[in-house]
Amino acid sequence: MKFFIDTANLEQIKEAQELGVLDGVTTNPSLMAKEGIKGDAAIKAHYKQICEIVEGDVSAEVFGTEYDDMIRQGEELAALHSQITIKLPCTKDGIRAVKYFSEKGVKTNCTLVFTVGQALLAAKAGATYVSPFVGRLDDISSDGVALIKEIVDVFNYYGYQTQVLAASIRHTQHIIDCMKAGADVATCPLKAILGLLNHPLTDKGVEIFVADARKMEG
Ligand code: E4P
Repeated sequence: MKFFIDTANLEQIKEAQELGVLDGVTTNPSLMAKEGIKGDAAIKAHYKQICEIVEGDVSAEVFGTEYDDMIRQGEELAALHSQITIKLPCTKDGIRAVKYFSEKGVKTNCTLVFTVGQALLAAKAGATYVSPFVGRLDDISSDGVALIKEIVDVFNYYGYQTQVLAASIRHTQHIIDCMKAGADVATCPLKAILGLLNHPLTDKGVEIFVADARKMEG
C-alpha cells in the first residue's frame, strides 16, 4: 500500500518525506488556498517545489469545470514536471479529459468519486488513480470504507489497472480500514500517518530499554 500525503504544506511534506515512507502527494484547490498561494505563477512554482521534495506522483487539480479549460490547464500543469499527475473531477467533462490525458500517456487522478459507477467510468477512461472520498461519505452517515472495498472488488474482477486511492482520510483508523479493504494508496494528513506509530507499550518498552542500557554504561 502506497502512502501519499494530502496537503500543500511544504513543511509537512518535508517531514513525511524525511520519515522515508512517502510515495507521493495529493493537493486540491482548498489545500492550495490554505497555504496562501495566489496567482498562476505562484501556483506553478509551488507545484515545482513539491516535486523537488518528493520522488513520487504529485496530484495537481485543474480549476476549470469545462472540458477545454481542463485540457488547457492540465497541459500546462503536466509540462511543469514529470511527477505531476493531473487531477480531474468525476464529471462528464472530467471523464472526457481523463481519456484525453490517458491516451497521451499523462497520469491522471479522477477525484470526487462517491459511487462504484463513477469509479468504473474513470477506470474505463484509463485513469491512473481513482479517488473515492472516504471521510465525506462518513460525514453523511454513509460508509466510505465499504465503497473502497466495493471498487477494489470490481477492479480486481475485471482486471482494471486503475489504482484505488483512498482520499478524504480523516484519521489513523481510516488508513487501517482502507488497507484491509485493499486500497492501493491512501492519501492522508500527516497526523493520521504519524498516528500509526502510537502505542503505549512501544513507549513503555523504549523507556525500559533506555533505563537498562544506562545500567551498562561504564
Ligand atoms: C484528496 O485527493 C482529496 O482532495 C482530499 O482527501 C479531500 O479531503 P477532505 O474531504 O478532508 O477535504
